[in-house]
Amino acid sequence: METVDQVRQAGVSSYIRRSVRMTVGQQRVWETNWPQLGRKLEELPAGEVDLAGWFGREAPVVLEIGSGMGEGTSQLARQAPEVNHLAAEVYPAGLGQLMLWVEKYELDNVRLLHGDALDFLRDHVRPDTLAGVRVFFPDPWPKKRHHKRRLITAPFVKLLATRLQPGGRLHLATDWQDYADDMLSICAAEPLLTNEYEGWAPRPDWRPVTKFESRAHAEGRHCRDLMFTKSAT
Ligand SMILES: C[S@@+](CC[C@H](N)C(=O)[O-])C[C@H]1O[C@@H](n2cnc3c(N)ncnc32)[C@H](O)[C@@H]1O
Repeated sequence: METVDQVRQAGVSSYIRRSVRMTVGQQRVWETNWPQLGRKLEELPAGEVDLAGWFGREAPVVLEIGSGMGEGTSQLARQAPEVNHLAAEVYPAGLGQLMLWVEKYELDNVRLLHGDALDFLRDHVRPDTLAGVRVFFPDPWPKKRHHKRRLITAPFVKLLATRLQPGGRLHLATDWQDYADDMLSICAAEPLLTNEYEGWAPRPDWRPVTKFESRAHAEGRHCRDLMFTKSAT
């Protein structure tokens, strides 16, 4: 099987570079709140990041990859104040928007990582660390020639699985059925993971509806959730 290093060497990225233009509000929170809440991947010191030091407390850490505009992330953080929520995103305006939600709801359990989650996990997260990893509506890259850019691949799932703590959960959601089918077979083939359900997980009420899910429903596409647990050994 290909490794994440080979994925990197091939120069394949799972995202589109978008404009860095931010609203006045996003710019303001970037200046005032980023130093406490955020870290840029390229500025992290080599080695494992001190998650408890970053959050200012010891608590289970759930990593959300591709937090987008952050409204869903902020709702999840409000629902579970006992959990440390780490949002990884390459799109700065999205992180700025998430900081606005964090400010509005006075959340103290959200931290933000600007950069590619693959590099972050590989280089800065100790194995057996995370209580959960969530990837909701990753970019679908629907054209066949772009499938290699999809975030969820066998080497990436292996990397995710190593970073989960035993009993930790990988939760994926997508509205693209062929991507969902691939996710299911990739995760089912990963020896460190066990499906919590037979096939798809029921849609959990607590997962916020974001614009991607609303649009999928409007366009007649079904959304799939997948929940896998890291084995105890
Ligand atoms: C389709 S959006 C979904 C956003 C959000 N999860 C939601 O449901 O509203 C996917 C997001 O993943 C981000 N993304 C893609 N690859 C990434 C990576 N390797 N690391 C961090 N973020 C990534 C993109 O910038 C984009 O904002």
